[in-house]
Amino acid sequence: MFSSIAHRYDLLNALLSLGQDRRWRRRAAQLTKAGLGDRALDVCCGTGALSALLKRRVGTAGSVAGVDLTEAMIAGATGKVPGVDFRVGDACRLPFADSTFDAATMAFGLRNIDHHDLALGEMLRVLRPGGRAVILEFSTVVAPMDPLYRLYNQWVIPRLATLLLGRAGAYQYLTDSIAAFPPPLVVSRWLREAGFDRVRYQRMTLGIVAIHVGVKPRP
Ligand SMILES: C[S@@+](CC[C@H](N)C(=O)[O-])C[C@H]1O[C@@H](n2cnc3c(N)ncnc32)[C@H](O)[C@@H]1O
Repeated sequence: MFSSIAHRYDLLNALLSLGQDRRWRRRAAQLTKAGLGDRALDVCCGTGALSALLKRRVGTAGSVAGVDLTEAMIAGATGKVPGVDFRVGDACRLPFADSTFDAATMAFGLRNIDHHDLALGEMLRVLRPGGRAVILEFSTVVAPMDPLYRLYNQWVIPRLATLLLGRAGAYQYLTDSIAAFPPPLVVSRWLREAGFDRVRYQRMTLGIVAIHVGVKPRP
C-alpha cells in the first residue's frame, strides 16, 4: 500500500492535514532534545520528513539513520534528504546494535505495526540509557470536535485522496487505521510495558495527534 502512494505521499500529507503535519513533526523533533553531535534514528521514516529535521538538530558532527520497510519510501527519502543513512528495514528487527542512539523517533508508524510491543522493544534496545523515544501518532479528538473530525476522515479524506492518486480506496486504510488506533493513555501503557520510564504525552491540534515521549532507564 505504501509503495503505491510513495510518489504523492508528501503532497497528500500536507493537503490532508491542512499543512499541520510540518508543525507536528517539528514539535516531535524538538521533544527528542537531540543536539549537535548526537546520534538519532527515525523509525518508519517514510520519505524522510522527520529525519531531515533531526539532521538539522544534530548537525554535521552528529548522525541520523532512517529505517523503513518500503523501498519506494526509502528511495524518495534518499533523493530528498542528504547526509542521512537511509535503509530498508523492519521496525520490529532494527539493523543496529544495542545502545547506539541518543534519540529515536517514529512518526505515524506505530499505527501500521501489528506487533507494537516488538517495535517499542526495539526502539528501547537501540537507545542508550537516558536516550529518548518520541512517537508521533494520530490520537483521539476532543469531544465537541469529534463528529466533524469523523466526517472529515471518513468522507473528505478518501475522496480527496482518490482524486489526487487517480484510484479509489488507497486512503481508506488511513481513515480505518486512525479510527482503530487506541487513545493516548493506552499508548503510554504500551511504552511503560516496553520498559520506558518518564512516559508522557502531549496532544496537538485538538487531539488529532499526540506526541508520546519515553526515556530509556539508566541501570
Ligand atoms: C504513514 S507513513 C509515515 C512516514 C513518515 N514517518 C512521516 O512522518 O511521514 C508510515 C510508514 O511506516 C512504514 N512501515 C510500516 N510498517 C513498518 C515496519 N514494520 N517497519 C518499518 N517501516 C514500516 C511504511 O512503509 C510507511 O513508510
